[in-house]
Amino acid sequence: MKVIVLEDAAAIGRAVGDIVCNFIAQKPDAVLGLATGSSPVPAYQRMIARRRAGEASFRDVTTFNLDEYCDLPAEHKNSYRTFMREELFSQIDIPLGNTNFLDGNCADEAAESARFSRAIEAAGGIDLQILGIGRNGHIGFNEPGEAFTGDAYKVALTPSTIAANSPYFVDRPMPRYAMTMGVGQILQARKIILVATGAAKAEAVRAMLEGEVTPLCPASALQGHPDVTVYLDPAAAGLLGKNPPAPS
Ligand code: GLP
Repeated sequence: MKVIVLEDAAAIGRAVGDIVCNFIAQKPDAVLGLATGSSPVPAYQRMIARRRAGEASFRDVTTFNLDEYCDLPAEHKNSYRTFMREELFSQIDIPLGNTNFLDGNCADEAAESARFSRAIEAAGGIDLQILGIGRNGHIGFNEPGEAFTGDAYKVALTPSTIAANSPYFVDRPMPRYAMTMGVGQILQARKIILVATGAAKAEAVRAMLEGEVTPLCPASALQGHPDVTVYLDPAAAGLLGKNPPAPS
């Protein structure tokens, strides 16, 4: 995995936003995998700025989002669908019909997972996947567990994730379940960019990059992917190189 440390979240946003815009300049009908959370927002702002400057068009781009809460109306202000509309889609020229989400309120999770897999396949697979990382090493909503996951599924969120995301929920408790793309599905993206900023991510970043590949740190699975670039600020990179794994 390639690691790039830049001075702050704004610099990372400019770099990652430019990579996405340059990518779609080369491939206007690119398929993007997108993430929610605060980490990718500066990159989305850069994409919006370049769209406004007439330097990028998302008209023919297709997107797939990583995850969505269960038991939350799609139009609720805390749904990831709403997040993406507010933070990106409403401010660029992508047709909303080109944007894809898992349905967190589906009646049949297996059928919903199969539908999502088929849609990704029909689009030609994900060219470029943007990721954040949870404090516990999760990607999407793949929480630490006993085995790496494959396709999309319904997950029970961990106390760490509920604690991290609960402050965003003011009018109701945070959902306890989500639908998420599985780790195996994420690894099928041709190119992956992960963004992490702040000291709260430093241990997860260390485990992802320098720890053993284990489902206890879902992001460690990225070590097996041939094209991953990790963008860090100095705080998120703060534990790298300091805790070499014990010899086996
Ligand atoms: C959320 C999302 C992840 C995201 C992570 C980190 O729970 N499901 O996709 O990467 O947590 O969020 P943030 O970037 O706000 O720290």
